[in-house]
Amino acid sequence: TRTPVNVTVTGAAGQIGYALLFRIASGHLLGADVPVKLRLLEIPQGVKAAEGTAMELDDCAFPLLKGIDIFDDPNKGFEGANIGLLVGARPRGPGMERGDLLAANGGIFKPQGEAIAAHAADDVKILVVGNPANTNALIAQSAAKGVPAERFTAMTRLDHNRALTQLAQKTGSSVTDIKRLTIWGNHSATQYPDIFHAEIAGKNAADVVDDEAWLADTFIPTVAKRGAAIIDARGASSAASAANAAIDHVYTWVNGTAEGDWTSMGVPSDGSYGVPEGLISSFPVTCKDGKYEIVQGLEINDFSRARIDASVKELSEERDAVRELGLI
Ligand code: NAI
Repeated sequence: TRTPVNVTVTGAAGQIGYALLFRIASGHLLGADVPVKLRLLEIPQGVKAAEGTAMELDDCAFPLLKGIDIFDDPNKGFEGANIGLLVGARPRGPGMERGDLLAANGGIFKPQGEAIAAHAADDVKILVVGNPANTNALIAQSAAKGVPAERFTAMTRLDHNRALTQLAQKTGSSVTDIKRLTIWGNHSATQYPDIFHAEIAGKNAADVVDDEAWLADTFIPTVAKRGAAIIDARGASSAASAANAAIDHVYTWVNGTAEGDWTSMGVPSDGSYGVPEGLISSFPVTCKDGKYEIVQGLEINDFSRARIDASVKELSEERDAVRELGLI
C-alpha cells in the first residue's frame, strides 16, 4: 500500500476551502489511487469552523482519506507537507491601499514560506491561490531558503478554464477540442488570455475566430473581469470554480499535460519572452513526471506583445513594492 501524501491547505475554513477539501479527499487532486492526509491550517478564529468541515469530511467515509489534522501554527501545518495549497489570504478591505494589502499578505506568506523551508517534505510543491496570488507566491518563495524556486507556483488555471469555455462558446466547439491556450502575466485584470497559438479541432483558433474586435473588446475583458461578474451575480465570490482550478493545477503538475497540449501556470520566470527572471508570471507550460517546463520559442505578435508587457509591468511594480517593504 502507498504512503499517504500530506496535503496542507491554508484558509481551510474559507469558501474555497469548503469546495476544495472534499475533492482532495475523494482523489481528484492526485489520482484515484493515491491516499492523502489533510493538514488544515487556519488562524485561531478559523479553527472551530475547520473542525466542523473535518467532521463532514469524516462523515463522507472517503476511502483515500487517511487522516485530518488542524493547526493554527504554520510550523506545524507544513510539517511533512508534500503539497501545499496556500488559499488563506488577506482580502482588500474598504479604503485599503495597495501597499497595506501587500504588507498584510507579507505577514501571512513570509512566515509560511519560512515554515515550508523548515518543515515541509523535500519534494514539496506549492500552489498559491490567495490574492494577490503571483506576488504572494514570490514572497513565500523568497522566504523559503533552500527550497528550489520552481516549487512555488501561482494559480492562473481558473483564468485558463474561463478562457476555454468562452472560446468554445464563441466558436460552437467543445472545450476538449481546444488545445494550447495561454494565460500570460498576472492573475489580475491585466492578465492576457492568448488564442494565437491555440488550436480548435486542429485549426488555428485566431483564424477560426477571425474577429480581432471580439478578442480585444469581448473575450479578453470577459475572462479578465469574470471574478467581478460572478460576485455581482451570486453575491459571493467564485469559490467552487477556484477550487476546481486548484485541483486541475496540481493534478496536471503531478500527472502531466497531454501530448500536443499545454496549460497555464504562474511560475518563476527563466527570462523567457522578456519576463524578468524570478518574477512569478503565468506562462504556457508542459508538465511531465511531476515537473513543468515553460514552452519555448513561440512567436509573439504585436497584439500579444503589448498585453504581455503591460501585465508583466504590473508584476514588476508589485515586486518592487514588496521589496521596498522588506518582504523579499
Ligand atoms: P474566505 O475569506 O472565505 O477564506 C479565507 C480563509 O483564510 C478564512 O477562513 C481565513 O480565516 C483564512 N486565513 C486568513 N489568514 C490566514 C493565515 N495566515 N493562515 C491560514 N488561514 C488564514 O476566502 P475564499 O473565498 O476562500 O478565497 C481565498 C483567497 O483566494 C482570496 O484571497 C481570494 O481572493 C483568492 N482567490 C484566488 C483566485 C485565483 O484564481 N487565483 C480565484 C478566487 C479567489
